[in-house]
Amino acid sequence: MTAVQSESAETSRSLRFPPGFLWGAATAAYQIEGAAAEDGRTPSIWDTFSHTPGRVLNGDTGDIAADHYHRYRDDVALMSDLNLGAYRFSVSWSRVQPTGRGPAVQRGLDFYRKLTDELMERGITPLVTLYHWDLPQELEDSGGWTVRDTAERFADYAEIVAGALGDRVPFWTTLNEPWCSAYLGYGSGVHAPGRTDPESALKAAHHLNLAHGRAIGALRSALPATAQTSITLNLHQIRPLSESAADLDAARRIDAVGNRVFLGPLFDGEYPADLMADTSHVVDWNALVKDGDLAEISRPIDLLGVNYYTPTLVSDGRVRQDGVEVPRNDGHGGGDHSPWPGSEHVAFHLPPGETTAMRWAVDASGLYDLLMRLTREHPDLALMVTENGAAYDDYVSPEGTVNDPQRIAYVHSHLSAVHRAIGDGADVRGYFLWSLMDNFEWAYGYSKRFGTVYVDFATQRRIPKRSAQWYAGVARDNVLQDLPEEDGKS
Ligand code: FCB
Repeated sequence: MTAVQSESAETSRSLRFPPGFLWGAATAAYQIEGAAAEDGRTPSIWDTFSHTPGRVLNGDTGDIAADHYHRYRDDVALMSDLNLGAYRFSVSWSRVQPTGRGPAVQRGLDFYRKLTDELMERGITPLVTLYHWDLPQELEDSGGWTVRDTAERFADYAEIVAGALGDRVPFWTTLNEPWCSAYLGYGSGVHAPGRTDPESALKAAHHLNLAHGRAIGALRSALPATAQTSITLNLHQIRPLSESAADLDAARRIDAVGNRVFLGPLFDGEYPADLMADTSHVVDWNALVKDGDLAEISRPIDLLGVNYYTPTLVSDGRVRQDGVEVPRNDGHGGGDHSPWPGSEHVAFHLPPGETTAMRWAVDASGLYDLLMRLTREHPDLALMVTENGAAYDDYVSPEGTVNDPQRIAYVHSHLSAVHRAIGDGADVRGYFLWSLMDNFEWAYGYSKRFGTVYVDFATQRRIPKRSAQWYAGVARDNVLQDLPEEDGKS
């Protein structure tokens, strides 16, 4: 029995996590920094996209966001008040390298050095994500992720950031959720740069994989040997609507184009044969994947970051479901174009039961299943839950407080799932709540609040929600206690 198992066997009321488990919160540059045109920063694809009418709800942009660029000291103090042991943030590429090429802007790098100084002074471990979707616009103008050169540029940028922060950052992530960059950015077009071409989406997926591999090479030569490298994927925990052959095949296809398109080259050094067959009418894989690419993509990494919010329920949309009316839900902000190149016929459904303000089903068993699948397939792989959390319609009470019992229940159930997976053999090293504070939620603008800290965007006042106090207790004790009756149900 492991320590975790014996503890949970002793008492179901308190689940102790392994010693050294990292308790953190996550953010991303464009979602919180603001200062969009300061100190040499130039537009990224998200600046261009959000300033294009009709792209983002209410015309919201990240121009000011949570003004973290100016308030980072207070924000780090807040993290410390919340007992966070770690903080996952991303670097804005166009703040560091405005054209995406050539020399770095020192003021941009200085911001991240000052931020990491603050974190280290307060004993908070920094995790850097190099790319959380904000490609410099100049690179998009030269083809963006549909061209190989962007992977080359990314490796140069990785080397610059490693040179500036390598002395203080122990955890490095190349890309956040390349699925979103490739398929929402170039397939469904609901994310920047807003293109809607299935072939471009698959080219982007390969070039993002390649960018990851090249950046790992650059990081390895620039960082101390103790640094840990990773990529963060939003893997889909896919469930077929029925056991029919057609629905099972829909699930297989989505697993191929959604998950194994990344896992295959990363860990097996090849693209899955079924993926290439499913999409051979969309892209010419032989022309796309050059000699040596797969060896670069499959360079060893130390950790896999896993982002999980909700499971994915699929059926073959061409087949009638025996009179059963099943609500459809693409879960990714709609749009007329599919984000699933070559599998456009697959239908996505809203699982029954409770949902968050995103209309995402609450189901922590999906996180358990996902962690166990990865552990089964790659027994030695260390995992980190780099994002998990929920949006709810939070508001400030007349007393000035924000009460969010649903978020507490959501996080509690997902942490229980993580604990169970650890007990069953998954090597999960940490958990990062999405998000530290309310922020610019991409195509939804400021309408969706994922923070554990409330942000009044008119005044930039921060108000820790009740979930923040609760999470601070979990982080302090390294123990998840049962919820009191009023919070247990949501
Ligand atoms: C993830 C993104 C993150 C945030 C959450 C809700 O897909 O990585 O930036 O938008 O979803």
